[in-house]
Amino acid sequence: AALWLVVPAAGQGRRMGADRPKQYLEIAGRPVLACTLARLYSAFPGARLCLCLDADDARFDPAWVPFAEWRRVSGGNERVDSVSHALEAIAGEASDDDLVLVHDVARPCVTVADLERLHAALSDDPVGGLLASPVADTMKRDDGAGRVAATELRAGLWHALTPQGFRYGLLRQALAAAVKAGIPVTDEASAVETLGLSPQLVKGRRDNLKITHPEDLALARQILAAQSATEPA
Ligand code: CTP
Ligand code: MG
Repeated sequence: AALWLVVPAAGQGRRMGADRPKQYLEIAGRPVLACTLARLYSAFPGARLCLCLDADDARFDPAWVPFAEWRRVSGGNERVDSVSHALEAIAGEASDDDLVLVHDVARPCVTVADLERLHAALSDDPVGGLLASPVADTMKRDDGAGRVAATELRAGLWHALTPQGFRYGLLRQALAAAVKAGIPVTDEASAVETLGLSPQLVKGRRDNLKITHPEDLALARQILAAQSATEPA
């Protein structure tokens, strides 16, 4: 079975508030998008890539794509729509039992070791799964007015990271069903969960952060610098 990579990169980066979408901000001497694709390529040089880009995106440079086999697909209104477009675009080529790994372009710090461990963990998993890290902080639920309503039990809580990997047929079915039912889908796993299935939690590094807010850019630079001794550029 083939390995597909879907990289949603059609977001506007509103919370970042920069002069361009965050995937085009520079870290380690090149755009976030180029860093992320380089990490994925180091782990999976033979994979086929679907890159979701905004139709109006004028900043993208194909020179940043190291993969031999790749295509550009247009993004949608929400992340889930962008991923769905990618799955539609490969419908003629992908088999139902091909593995699809979906990875946010805004996560350039994912390590090759984590990517390889996820891939190995999913190789014979009938459901699929995701990189995730156990929650370290005590969790509070607010009362809607800035005060604590409850303390949530931290034990057993995980941060959902990416990549998230599922068989092509299952993922397409899950996303279509969730969108049709109007269920908000913030990650692939939640769509699969609505089918009554339990994705595998594969423990990943906590520093696989999603660049979201302005302060995350400096953090990502530090993480990449600290990893540079062991990780490929
Ligand atoms: N994404 C996408 N298509 C969308 C929205 C998001 O492909 N319609 C991608 C983003 O490019 C990003 C990933 O999904 O790689 C995770 O989304 P998020 O971190 O929310 O990025 P943005 O939507 O760009 O940021 P914001 O929500 O702050 O605007
Ligand atoms: Mg968003």
